[in-house]
Amino acid sequence: MTRGPLLGSGWLIVAAVLMAQCAGGDASCEPQSTPRLAPAQPNRTSELAESMRMLDAELLGVKTLVENSDPALQEAQFTDIDFTQLAPTDSSMLVEGFTALSKAFAHHVAAFNAAPSSETYSAVVGGCEACHMKACPGPLERIAKRHLAD
Ligand code: HEC
Repeated sequence: MTRGPLLGSGWLIVAAVLMAQCAGGDASCEPQSTPRLAPAQPNRTSELAESMRMLDAELLGVKTLVENSDPALQEAQFTDIDFTQLAPTDSSMLVEGFTALSKAFAHHVAAFNAAPSSETYSAVVGGCEACHMKACPGPLERIAKRHLAD
């Protein structure tokens, strides 16, 4: 993204805010010097970001069940999402290994859905972190809060 003289224009500021949500102040989540950007979507959260928020909400719900030893945990399920089919805010987020990291994450979700437990829950959180360390470090702080208290 070209900074500087263009920063005054409205949509760029909105775009910068959207990026900042992901980057969380960490510049490594911003596009590097990539010349080709995805179309600007100032008024809309990307499909990928939206699915992330949904999963984050699911983590919170399941975490509560685990920590309360709630029998409803046995019925809990994570939505199975294929991240590789969703458009990101910016193509630079699709880092090398994104497909493999998405598959690894789907594997953890499938394992949890087959046998919900504190162990399979923690593996899902680990899957979130594995990709975020590479693709988008900003939300790591938030994801860290999804670890079970021990
Ligand atoms: C395979 C990689 C990958 C996995 C796995 C992954 N993420 Fe993400 N996540 C991303 C990328 C890339 C973005 C940036 C999306 C965008 O802005 O379009 C993102 C964005 C986010 C955001 C910011 C969304 C917003 O509102 O801008 C949150 C929060 C988040 N992820 C949480 C999670 C949680 C919680 C999990 C596990 C349940 C998870 N992520 C798993 C790659 C991943």
